[in-house]
Amino acid sequence: CSDGGGGAGGDAYPGENITIIVPFSAGGPTDTVTRMIADPMAAALGGEIVVRNVEGAGGTIGAGEVAQAKADGYTVLMHHIGMSTAPALYKNLGYRPLEDFATVGLVTEVPMTVVARKDFPPATFADLTAHVKANAADVTLANAGIGAASHLCGLLFQAAAGVQVQEVPYQGTGPALTDLVGGQVDFMCDQTTNTSGQIAAGEVKAYAVTTPERVKSLPDVPTTAESGMPALRVSVWHGLYVPAGTPAEVVRKLSGALQTALADPAVVDQMAKLGTAPVAAADATPDAHRAHLQEQLTTWAKVIADAGVEAS
Ligand code: MLT
Repeated sequence: CSDGGGGAGGDAYPGENITIIVPFSAGGPTDTVTRMIADPMAAALGGEIVVRNVEGAGGTIGAGEVAQAKADGYTVLMHHIGMSTAPALYKNLGYRPLEDFATVGLVTEVPMTVVARKDFPPATFADLTAHVKANAADVTLANAGIGAASHLCGLLFQAAAGVQVQEVPYQGTGPALTDLVGGQVDFMCDQTTNTSGQIAAGEVKAYAVTTPERVKSLPDVPTTAESGMPALRVSVWHGLYVPAGTPAEVVRKLSGALQTALADPAVVDQMAKLGTAPVAAADATPDAHRAHLQEQLTTWAKVIADAGVEAS
């Protein structure tokens, strides 16, 4: 097919299908957010968008694939806070967030919930902390691999509680939640875009949300600050990226389509039902996203070092 980019300027872009790579399993929170915006973005671009899941290593496999892809705008990455934590957690990451990617725009910032299998003994978050402190070696904590948001939240919980539990990595928190509902694993941190349905259905126990304020769609779930662990504060920002060197006109078109998708009432409604909301239009720009990524790389490198976690 043609270079698709319509030459250097990208004026004929998109001339073929665009692939958005989700670096976690289908059915998880990253996948869910991507599929919410894919169709409205495709409509705005006058093209087709395919979502492809490339799993593994806490999202770094999928991110690495996009870093190596042709810089023509036909391979896009949806990633989240893990883009800013991975450099502090992986000795040989294989990509450099700021040098190997161009930012397209922030998408949404999703609260985390601390959830457990429904028959897990602790009744409250304070009981959970006490139970984990007393039984750390026997407690299992699911996550989506080193560098995942669920891993980071679990790391912060263990550091604040002063314990180390058994971590159980999955290719995404979609499958992890399935095992939590099945009682195969004890607890985990995961985003409201994944856990809201199971919380409402009573299939998992929700102890707390990790945001400063309670989540409107989960009014009965206290914050970690209300529950005695203010240090456990993390929400999962998501953004779109393309390989560095993608023509500016292509990035502009992608960012414009993202803005349109985030203003789509159906997207706003879907996000609200799952405890989140589109970022403000001013944050869905390439420059705002890049500035946020730069600040988050610095912030999380320090938090991870202070938690005594070394890159592996
Ligand atoms: C994570 O970082 O925990 C991921 O968002 C999980 C996922 O999207 O499957």
